[in-house]
Amino acid sequence: MPDPLAGRRILVGISGSIAAVKLPLVVSALVQRGAQVRCVLTPSAAQLVSAPALASLSRAAVALDGDQWNHRESRPLHIELAEWAELVLLAPLSATSLARWVHGLGDSLLASVLLATEAPVLAAAAMNTAMWQSPGVARNWEALQAFERVLPLGPSAGLLACDRQGAGRMAEPAALLLALDSLALWGWRRDWAGQQLLVTAGPTREWLDPARCLTNPSTGRMGVLLAQAARLRGATVDLVHGPLAVDPAWLEGLRCHPISTGAELQQRLRDLQPAATAIAMAAAVADHRPARPQAGKLDKSALADAMAAGWQEVPDLLQQLVAHRPAGQRILGFAAQSGDGLQPARLKFARKGCDLLFANPIDGPGAGFGASTNQGWLLGPGDRCQSLAPASKLAIAHQLLTALLALGPRA
Ligand code: CTP
Repeated sequence: MPDPLAGRRILVGISGSIAAVKLPLVVSALVQRGAQVRCVLTPSAAQLVSAPALASLSRAAVALDGDQWNHRESRPLHIELAEWAELVLLAPLSATSLARWVHGLGDSLLASVLLATEAPVLAAAAMNTAMWQSPGVARNWEALQAFERVLPLGPSAGLLACDRQGAGRMAEPAALLLALDSLALWGWRRDWAGQQLLVTAGPTREWLDPARCLTNPSTGRMGVLLAQAARLRGATVDLVHGPLAVDPAWLEGLRCHPISTGAELQQRLRDLQPAATAIAMAAAVADHRPARPQAGKLDKSALADAMAAGWQEVPDLLQQLVAHRPAGQRILGFAAQSGDGLQPARLKFARKGCDLLFANPIDGPGAGFGASTNQGWLLGPGDRCQSLAPASKLAIAHQLLTALLALGPRA
């Protein structure tokens, strides 16, 4: 599977926020993935992160303000860099660099590169909470939302280097890389703006006693990537999830609701369904729960009897969502299939009643629980059956979002 960043020319612009210290790791990861990387530092960033380290990691000279007008070069450096870049990662974006950019100032190398480039820009803000919330910065950030070709990543809340707890932390390196992948695969357009997407992901667990449960190997990767892809396309996203095995940075920017059992998932869906404009039911719901769960840990000699005491079916939550959906709401279901799965998937689609059903094999190479890639069939209205070729789960997520949005609100 080709890496969406391999061979791409990525310009990394670093401005003056302490989060700059995280950028060498990002540059190193990009180079390891086969990208060509060049870095531009503002003077403040150069106080915080080492230009020689970035030059070694990127295998390219680092551009500083003093390099802008070099009489040995035929072209101004800011134009050369702006035109070289296929993608720009602007991280961290400080209050000053934001203000320059939004107000069209080109009084430094990075500022003039930003004015001159026609490449898409992923811009990740980072600053102290009070600075972030100050009216001038808030206005500038608001203005940036309307810029063509820009994917703005607001900061998350947490402990800041100034010892304050609050909004201002730059997106973690793994979140930056995910957003760059999305920018390379899909672009910067926020066609999901105004939508409220509810996504379920990961396994549920049905407890026999406090130490044993019935569950499945779902990692939640497909659902979480779908949630992130929708967020990057402008949606507000609620993610209801069982225990996940994904990078925690992939949860940034999502409203997360952790659950364990099918009953907890059912309750959360009841709370959140009414406000959602669309739902993607990617959770791998454990189908049965013990009829008589035990409050204390069973002795192993009692286990066989406890399991033989019977199991109850967990209600079909997707069918319940379909039965209770408000006007306009669209619902995407998933189907885990083994063997020749298309015919059973068609029956499942008819049984569930959702608008779209993505049926994916869980026993083929490069598909199934925990894999980074996926493939399958997307079943839709009027016997539609679209085959989705093997691709990264993020690429599949974007295809599913495009198909869901194309349906429009349900009449
Ligand atoms: N699902 C659900 N509630 C359940 C079981 C499944 O909402 N109790 C949802 C899943 O989240 C998924 C879809 O139904 O969106 C299909 O799930 P899958 O496990 O493929 O099918 P099942 O209905 O469980 O049928 P089977 O296990 O027999 O294939």
